[in-house]
Amino acid sequence: MKAFIHPNKTRPGGCHLGQEYAVTPWEVKGKVDYLRLAREFGVQLITDEDVSLLKGLTGGDVHYLIRRGFFYAHRGFREILERARSGGSWALYNGRGPSGDLHIGHLVPWILTKWFVDKFNVHYFFELTDDEKFLVRDGYTLEETNRLAYDNALSLIALGFTPDRLHIIVDTDDVAYLYKIAVKVAKKLTLSTVKNTFGLTDSNNIGATFFPAMEIAVAFLPTELFNGETPVLIPTAIDQDPYFRLARDIAESLNYPKPATLYSKFLPGLTGEDKMSASNPDSALYINDDDKEVRRKIMNAFTGGQPTAELQRRLGGNPDICPVYKYHMLLSDNDDEVRKIYEDCRGGRLLCGECKLMLYERVSAFLNKHRELRERAKDKINEYKISVKFK
Ligand code: TYM
Repeated sequence: MKAFIHPNKTRPGGCHLGQEYAVTPWEVKGKVDYLRLAREFGVQLITDEDVSLLKGLTGGDVHYLIRRGFFYAHRGFREILERARSGGSWALYNGRGPSGDLHIGHLVPWILTKWFVDKFNVHYFFELTDDEKFLVRDGYTLEETNRLAYDNALSLIALGFTPDRLHIIVDTDDVAYLYKIAVKVAKKLTLSTVKNTFGLTDSNNIGATFFPAMEIAVAFLPTELFNGETPVLIPTAIDQDPYFRLARDIAESLNYPKPATLYSKFLPGLTGEDKMSASNPDSALYINDDDKEVRRKIMNAFTGGQPTAELQRRLGGNPDICPVYKYHMLLSDNDDEVRKIYEDCRGGRLLCGECKLMLYERVSAFLNKHRELRERAKDKINEYKISVKFK
């Protein structure tokens, strides 16, 4: 898919089109200014009031990914919370464009979604867009993206979801659930809206212009399946906003409730970029990286440290720009431990080598366990398929 960059202009597509960065569902480039991006996308920032409201509904608990500001923006989150408070039904939704390079960043929205399922006991719909990957990425056959859909689903199941709550949709296998909704969505979207929103051009294939209707359709599916208004909350990184901005624009005209979203920043690349990137394999920790590979990548990572141990001890490091610290922050639910890493780094008591080793141990323990749970999920995958539960 072509990059959506246009000099010195902001278009309704919502990515920033200046020179410094671009964010689209298919590409993230440059240094992302998240506050500016939220403003340009027209999304709200999560406020203390939103967090208090959430706390009131969960008995005082708020997931650390929200508490620490990694999930930082939203559309309509407040309405979902109000709905939860008044006992109305709602559901969770997000998804994955299946490929072989599933990395730790992809697990982040699912970790938060697991927390929502546990706290609110709501249904969770998960879309694997084997059609999207085939249509917008060169080099994949449809058979391959379909196989990868089932492979990627193992990682989701490994996070502990149960089949009574998690419903997995693989687009090309489960299209019957979506097609009627997608056709209605497609009729509401003009070609020029879709071209502008996603940065498509006349040289893209026609499948790429229809595909957004499939991702939007799942946002309306629970209302059809449960035969009553069931808005969804979509936890995702902010790159997926263009779909759901369009979904909210057309929802009422189709008699569906507007979907709500909760947006995170990106897990940064270990090599210092703003996002882990498949084009730079050293920037990301993939779920299939063995211990040796994980160790090598982490030990070579960019840090906010000083050039020498002596300077680090004297001046302290800068965790605010350090991906190693950010990984500790995003992979540990222990506030005291994370605070200590931050303060010890700032105070020169923690050297980068030690901090990297701690991260290596954390990631290696997580990945080894994760792979074991993925193996066990292989026998259970059919229980999660939407088609075995909703006829
Ligand atoms: P995909 O496969 O590009 O990404 C899957 C999910 O992971 C998020 N993500 C990240 N989060 C944190 N840090 C990162 N570095 C990072 N990279 C990716 C993405 O925002 C996404 O939530 N078209 C979608 C699949 C999809 C979907 C959805 C996603 C279908 N329906 C509904 C979200 C919500 C895609 O290709 O995602």
